[in-house]
Amino acid sequence: MKVIAINGSPRKNWNTGTLINKVLEGAKSENAEIELINLYNLEYKGCISCFHCKRKDKRHGVCAVDDDLSPILEKLKEADAIIFASPIYFANVSSGMSGFLERFLFSNMIYSNEIPTVFPKKIPSAFIYTMNITEKQMKEFGLKENLKLFQYYIYRILGEKSKLLYAYNTYQFSDYDKYESSMFSEEEKAKNKEEQFPIDCKKAFEIGVNIAKSVMKKH
Ligand SMILES: Cc1cc2nc3c(=O)[nH]c(=O)nc-3n(C[C@H](O)[C@H](O)[C@H](O)COP(=O)(O)O)c2cc1C
Repeated sequence: MKVIAINGSPRKNWNTGTLINKVLEGAKSENAEIELINLYNLEYKGCISCFHCKRKDKRHGVCAVDDDLSPILEKLKEADAIIFASPIYFANVSSGMSGFLERFLFSNMIYSNEIPTVFPKKIPSAFIYTMNITEKQMKEFGLKENLKLFQYYIYRILGEKSKLLYAYNTYQFSDYDKYESSMFSEEEKAKNKEEQFPIDCKKAFEIGVNIAKSVMKKH
């Protein structure tokens, strides 16, 4: 059983990285083989609209762009579960995650009403989001609506709805005194880091456990 995690944060060991590693720890505790891919270690572009993946005379599900993402897109076809994680940048996923999703999702769909996906298997997934804003602000801004589109397309391609985890009000700087950040209360951020973030880590671990268990049930 192979669980592959895709980290869409450039800061590999901060909030997003910590949570994605917790998911993998959870999966590993259920004997999954795990692999973490840090998108910001790779050189790649988003979809270039060449439509190679839609051609009738070519094998479907193959992205023709040749860069660091190409072997990853092939490797994902072998995964039994995929974990996506991204910080929120300007009310959506990071550009690294967005570019990756364009390539992954578009190459695995064809414009057919009958065939929603050409991805080889139906597999579970999770999407972890980290952000500065609070849960209350997220509701006020309607941010969850923005995230639903990629969630819908992941569902269309992988055939199962992703488990979702939103980590709010994250601690952004190692030293708040060094940066202009009067919009935020460092005290409140520190409290959240002490009290809420460990709960989010536990939830992430549980997601990993449950995803691995659901894969095992299928086999
Ligand atoms: C370019 C940029 C844009 C951001 N935009 C938002 C935003 O729109 N909403 C938000 O809540 N946080 C925003 N943030 C904050 C990050 O989402 C938050 O600090 C996140 O937890 C960072 O993840 P990391 O610790 O893995 O780097 C932004 C951060 C950056 C660098």
